Amino acid sequence: MKKNFYVTTPIYYASGDLHIGHTYTTTLADILNRFKKSMGMETFFLTGSDEHGQKIETKAKEAGIEPKKYVDEIVKKFKNLWELLDIKYDKFIRTTDDNHKKSVREIFSTLLNKDLIYKGNYEGLYCVSCEEFLIADQIDDEGNCKVSQTKPKMLAEETYFLRVSKFADFLTTLFGNDFLKPDSRKNEMFKNFIEPGLEDLSVTRISLKWGIPTKENPEHVIYVWLDALSNYITALGYPDTNNELFKKFWSEDTQIVQYVGKEITRFHSIYWPVILNGLGLRMPDKLISHGWILAKDTKMSKSLGNVIDPIAIINGFSSDALRFYIAKELPTERDGNFTEELFVECFNTNLANNIGNLISRTNNMITKYFDGMITSKADLSKHSLTVSGLKLIDDYVQEMNDFQINKAVDKIMKFSQELNKFIEEEKPWVLEKEGKLEKLAEVLLILQNSITIVTHLLAPILTKSYQDMLDQIGFEGKLLSIEELKKNQLTFSKITSRKIIFERIN
Ligand code: MSP
Repeated sequence: MKKNFYVTTPIYYASGDLHIGHTYTTTLADILNRFKKSMGMETFFLTGSDEHGQKIETKAKEAGIEPKKYVDEIVKKFKNLWELLDIKYDKFIRTTDDNHKKSVREIFSTLLNKDLIYKGNYEGLYCVSCEEFLIADQIDDEGNCKVSQTKPKMLAEETYFLRVSKFADFLTTLFGNDFLKPDSRKNEMFKNFIEPGLEDLSVTRISLKWGIPTKENPEHVIYVWLDALSNYITALGYPDTNNELFKKFWSEDTQIVQYVGKEITRFHSIYWPVILNGLGLRMPDKLISHGWILAKDTKMSKSLGNVIDPIAIINGFSSDALRFYIAKELPTERDGNFTEELFVECFNTNLANNIGNLISRTNNMITKYFDGMITSKADLSKHSLTVSGLKLIDDYVQEMNDFQINKAVDKIMKFSQELNKFIEEEKPWVLEKEGKLEKLAEVLLILQNSITIVTHLLAPILTKSYQDMLDQIGFEGKLLSIEELKKNQLTFSKITSRKIIFERIN
């Protein structure tokens, strides 16, 4: 296992409010980051905003304000949303930060000096909404961009190109590794872009003002994607490679994981590795490309006007409820759905009926039968549920390390169901009536131990509830690391409170 962990989300366009689709990527990254912390790794979690480009320039003009003023307002809203969702990032980078702008200019110069960037002319169809030149496969029968459903514009201008075509062998080797997940998207990228022959990428615009001008030829403004992709290293201080952050988190001691949505996978799996290689830097370990959140079978997106506002969901339910839905119901391999009915059903089935009920019953019985504190010193290490609990920790670690957050959650839920079944089978109320107090204490101790495990494993997801969950079963003190949890030496103090944690939504 590597010592450090660095996780990034895409930086979101500061062109409007964020929707549920954006919270998906960021929540997955936050969950994984918290998990890696529980594994004892030193972590760094980066998110931010992508603030240059034609789309934002136009939006600001429509609003009648300077672009910088426009993005300042939007960024406040981004940060507010992340706070409401309990996203604990270490840095929020803005592409309008002075350091970032200076670094991007230097990155451009380095690549130019290495002859990996050259001047030429470009002509092609450009989608302003995606900020991307389109190839034939990206355009539908009506001539619209397949992703944004808007009409691309014909652009012809002088531009600098990145020599992507030189990197075919490098990319073929990279794609041969396990760099991009899932395999389906890896195959798609390979088939559509690498196999047919790579084309050089236009990396400057002269028709655009709102961006970072090159040092060498300031009428050429750096293309949003070169500007944006660089954020992952400029945030660590690059090109100052002696910067402590860069030395630590872009080193071989660090596992670097990047989350992106499927429509921007091409930029991150092809152009980004080429840029890194050109700069002589290491590659990230994993690029995780996730599907879309759909609303009635189409992509939820601002340009399609079918978005769900995450703030309404958080205020109406809770941040934990939303984080849980994302973790459990939206596996990264395929597109997923978000509707309020599905959301409520997921909450009631898993959090109210399964976990909430389990904790409530256990709390109630320990309070009622033992005045809140079990003193039995029985050795329960051979009990089948103790064995299953410890196995669950190992399985969870394996799934999480494999970025299968939904599978990890499914395993926790299954264990919790077994615990509820255990209550039904052991019938503690009968044990009490029959005066079998030793056995009764053992049953409740097993539940107390097992719920502590369940809660620890859910803590990266249920960031606002886990403390209450632990309090309800008398586990005192700070959250344990996975290593400590596995020692199976839990101690409890007297339960003094009773609270319904996940109340059923009707
Ligand atoms: N600014 C670029 C990224 C630059 S990263 C160097 C960008 N921004 S974005 O705001 O349009 O979207 C960012 C992320 O949000 C992408 O990963 C995208 O997949 C994700 N999502 C946007 N809508 C989505 C859904 N409906 N569902 C899931 N994710 C979606 O692209």
